[in-house]
Amino acid sequence: MDNTNIRENIETSIKSINNILKLNLSIYALYTEKMDDSIIIVVFKKIKKERKLEEKRLKSRAIYTFDKIIGKNKNFLNIIEYSKKIANSKSTILITGESGTGKEIFAQAIHNYSDRKENVFMAVNCGAIPEKLIESELFGYEEGAFTGAKKGGNPGKFEMANDGTIFLDEIGEMSVEMQVKLLRVIEEEIIVRIGGYKQTPINVRIIAAANKNLKEEVENRNFRRDLFYRLNVLPIHLPPLRDRKDDICLLIDYYMNRISKKLNKRKVEINDAQMDKLVQYDWPGNIRELENVIEFFINIEHVDESVIETESSYKERKRGGSYNIYYDEDFMLNMNLENLEKVHIENVIKKFKGNVTLAAKAMGIGRNTLYRKIKKYNIYCSTLEHNSKM
Ligand SMILES: Nc1ncnc2c1ncn2[C@@H]1O[C@H](COP(=O)(O)OP(=O)(O)O)[C@@H](O)[C@H]1O
Ligand SMILES: [Mg+2]
Repeated sequence: MDNTNIRENIETSIKSINNILKLNLSIYALYTEKMDDSIIIVVFKKIKKERKLEEKRLKSRAIYTFDKIIGKNKNFLNIIEYSKKIANSKSTILITGESGTGKEIFAQAIHNYSDRKENVFMAVNCGAIPEKLIESELFGYEEGAFTGAKKGGNPGKFEMANDGTIFLDEIGEMSVEMQVKLLRVIEEEIIVRIGGYKQTPINVRIIAAANKNLKEEVENRNFRRDLFYRLNVLPIHLPPLRDRKDDICLLIDYYMNRISKKLNKRKVEINDAQMDKLVQYDWPGNIRELENVIEFFINIEHVDESVIETESSYKERKRGGSYNIYYDEDFMLNMNLENLEKVHIENVIKKFKGNVTLAAKAMGIGRNTLYRKIKKYNIYCSTLEHNSKM
């Protein structure tokens, strides 16, 4: 091997038992006195942190675009038109609407319709991050800021979203203390990491979302009035599915096609009477609920009207009663493990009224593991908490 055979910084990965390590590989010949080049040195280096960060940024992308948002209801189409118009503005958007009405997909579509589309779309669920961690998650920290702080510090979501969009979901869950800090960041457009002093200017478009009636929260003094007005510059209110019943058939068709393809299973025939019932039903969980119901039908290979029969059966289901449906043998056999895990986690969180710490204990896993799973499965703790009080 001569000098020309030196190989430096080849990106490679090594599979270990638990995961895949990404490494930089360099190969050098070791010249001894005899100029014998039979010995080579192989050097593996961990890929630099910045690279990992870059990859993290790349993963923070928005997938949805307006043309993938289903609906032909007139009011709904007007909302889409309005959203397109405000997509490129720097002003803050506040999206309100019940859970499952499409707040997150609207935020993504707006980002993708803007000049920022090539940059990061960073989604942060303010309701799923433990109170103690949210500040460092959003604003980052410097090395030595607290025990357990990473060497070299860590940038926060705002820094990572620079030149892009940050989506602050469930903003109503943010503590008043954090609200003050957020307001300051919005007004000054400057970030200071925890334990640091350097002021980093940021250019981030903020889209916030809430399923609570934030105005009411303002009246009840749970949400700061000044922050509310700062966020609510461009309001978007997404209607519940029951207010756009003319879209229900369309959505059922859409999800029937999509989910059957995804699961590689047959579509389920829905007769007129059943379709009537589906249209009349109130859909308190909105499009997310519709999606789940269709997935359920496809899995059990027929329409099970009991899922949507009456309002009272719905409440019963929410209270936990007929969630026993998930222990139906047929259903179990058709559920994949991930779906089962999700349903189980939701049930346990509900049982503990949204208290993630207790739920994690009950399931015998760490709280951080549970938060990861909550994020992975898009579980909405605050909704579960709310529902459990019904
Ligand atoms: N208009 C729509 N067309 C297609 N899918 C939709 C639409 N609105 C919502 N969805 C679907 O419903 C689910 C919930 O949407 P999401 O944006 O997460 O709701 P929210 O944030 O309001 O709870 C998502 O899986 C999304 O794919
Ligand atoms: Mg959401």
